Amino acid sequence: MARLTIPELKSRKGPGSLVMLTAYDYPTAKLATAAGVDVLLVGDSLGMVVLGYDSTVPVTLEEVLHHTKAARRGAPDVHLVADLPYLSDATPERALAAAERLVKEGGADSVKLEGPKIEVVAALVSAGVPVLGHVGLTPQTAASLGGYKVQGRGREEAAKLLEGALALEEAGVWGVVLEMVPAQLAELASRRLRVPTIGIGAGAATDGQVLVFHDLIGVFDRFKPRFVKRYLEGGQLIQEAISAYAAEVRAGEFPAAENAYEMDAEELEGLYGKE
Ligand code: KIV
Repeated sequence: MARLTIPELKSRKGPGSLVMLTAYDYPTAKLATAAGVDVLLVGDSLGMVVLGYDSTVPVTLEEVLHHTKAARRGAPDVHLVADLPYLSDATPERALAAAERLVKEGGADSVKLEGPKIEVVAALVSAGVPVLGHVGLTPQTAASLGGYKVQGRGREEAAKLLEGALALEEAGVWGVVLEMVPAQLAELASRRLRVPTIGIGAGAATDGQVLVFHDLIGVFDRFKPRFVKRYLEGGQLIQEAISAYAAEVRAGEFPAAENAYEMDAEELEGLYGKE
């Protein structure tokens, strides 16, 4: 499998055309590659699901970079998108500097940024950095949006959201993430946009879907939005495994002989002789 190029990504139109998943480390990226995921995202959701922050706001460029490098090592052949953390995209200059690090040092193929920051996107694209847009619920500014809630339910708000997505397309993004928007609006956006839409909480009509890995495997339990589907109750399974380990250590059952190393009897004899 080779990394999807930008023209290939742009051609992925029609529901079910793109499978995207977050990956923040080497083993996850490797497993997702083996499972045939099309695009991996080092999202700033890593701040909440891996680093334990209350929101994505405190996530730093260094943190995204660190995890991008790890994901890249696990998935050398998959298109890798890295998020521009909060305020690293506040101006074209800052965004270019952040993207330079994520692409050159981290090995990212594209960067994603939240909101219709058209001037910033245009600067990145004209500098040759592939960009994925993100509209609807944008977690970095969730507080100003009234919290983690569905965006674009009203006609005016929906029209504004659509306008933002179209402006992003005009500025050169290769695709647009639609987060927590009504399915009908996502469908309309997917018809209007020539580039693929990638939904999360946006219904089934978007061209692609994205999920946060820790939601998919059921290890993030602080909250579970309606759009999340757990394909595994991983949290429970992992906790059971750790409890079994602790119980065996306490009972003297682990490590067993098969988990230990032996010395030759002769060497041991020699060692005893020196006592
Ligand atoms: O950070 C992230 O995981 C994201 C996805 C929710 C699209 O931006």
